[in-house]
Amino acid sequence: MPHTPKPLPIATDRLRALARQHGTPLWVYDAATIRSRIAALKAFDTVRFAQKANSNIHLLRLMREQGVVVDAVSLGEIERALAAGFRGGSPAGVASEIVFTADLLDAATLAKVVEQAIPVNAGSIDMLRQLGQVNPGHRVWLRINPGFGHGHSNKTNTGGEHSKHGIWHADLPAALDVIRSTGLTLVGLHMHIGSGVDYGHLQQVCQAMVALAARVDLPIEAISAGGGLSIPYRVGDARIDTAHYHGLWDAARREIAAARGHAIHLELEPGRYLVAESGLLVAEVRATKDVGANHFALVDAGFNDLMRPSMYGAHHGISLLPHDDSARPMRPTVVAGPLCESGDVFTQGEGGVVLSRQLPQAEVGDLLVFHDAGAYGASMSSNYNSRPLIPEVLVDGDHDRLIRRRQTIGELLALELDLAG
Ligand code: LLP
Repeated sequence: MPHTPKPLPIATDRLRALARQHGTPLWVYDAATIRSRIAALKAFDTVRFAQKANSNIHLLRLMREQGVVVDAVSLGEIERALAAGFRGGSPAGVASEIVFTADLLDAATLAKVVEQAIPVNAGSIDMLRQLGQVNPGHRVWLRINPGFGHGHSNKTNTGGEHSKHGIWHADLPAALDVIRSTGLTLVGLHMHIGSGVDYGHLQQVCQAMVALAARVDLPIEAISAGGGLSIPYRVGDARIDTAHYHGLWDAARREIAAARGHAIHLELEPGRYLVAESGLLVAEVRATKDVGANHFALVDAGFNDLMRPSMYGAHHGISLLPHDDSARPMRPTVVAGPLCESGDVFTQGEGGVVLSRQLPQAEVGDLLVFHDAGAYGASMSSNYNSRPLIPEVLVDGDHDRLIRRRQTIGELLALELDLAG
């Protein structure tokens, strides 16, 4: 497999300087890449960022400046949206700045969406019942599972019988009954069939949306195409044609509007597409070793930082930045982290099979950069092995700034040590 997959969005000298300044491991994001991805989706009436992909408040603010609104899937994500300046409520004719999407409502989140008048995209009928009981009139979307799905991995396929997500399509009449009987206000219909969809499934989901809308005997204002747009993680992967993508959904929207006799608002809810290619994980090579036929480069980032390879066998391009600019011979290399767990390997396929990547021979002190790590990188990080969360830096043209500082071990321990007694 070739090395250096795609050009880095940030110059290597700059990455070296940032690594010196902030230490490694380190997330670095490029603001211009995010702005360009937002611009590519401007044909949609509303772009709603699925912040689970990257919920850094400073990136949410950047989104907001560009006219993007947000989706939240937890109380924490609602608080992040509020901290970034998004507001609840649904001003007439304008898309709500925050929508809460989930398959259940815990008590604290239920109270918050009511207090802040945040529309709820309901993935279960129980959510509708609970919301309707405490706040008749609350604005709701219906997230429907159309009976099929697609994803880059089984774990990111959110449609079909095996998926816990959404209201099963056959249960639509029951959901509408609850809306009617509790007095909730239906805003729109939503489908998200998975992450990493292809055009074939896209056409299928557009048709399913049109058929679904025809079965809804209540007024609706909007439809949401969900997210799921893929990005080219590997050299040669196709880049999604956003005009074509919009065209398919626009046709579905027009059909629904024609049948209902009024305009229908079209939302898109991408996560990965907006941020993946802007983000890099910069790590340092701290050890190399040969284990039988395998040559390992061990870096100071682990799957607690970037979980995607271990979780899905996901591929991230890797660039090596030699510490001394020397020419290095190429060498099949297994890139792994510091965690006390065999699965802490960045070069692996689905099912955990360890793979080698053709890389320049790594030496201790080299920097190693994981590409396309801006989505589901920092947001899926954990404190496993009692490792603190690592810093995030946003590069914007000539400027760069720390947008999350490194967590300290003291902060980690404080959750336990601060208890009285
Ligand atoms: N809307 C809903 C309701 C979703 O559940 C998701 C993703 C999105 C939008 C955004 O999907 P995107 O445009 O980013 O594909 N951790 C996995 C992806 C899980 C996606 C979960 N839901 C990964 O690293 O690939």
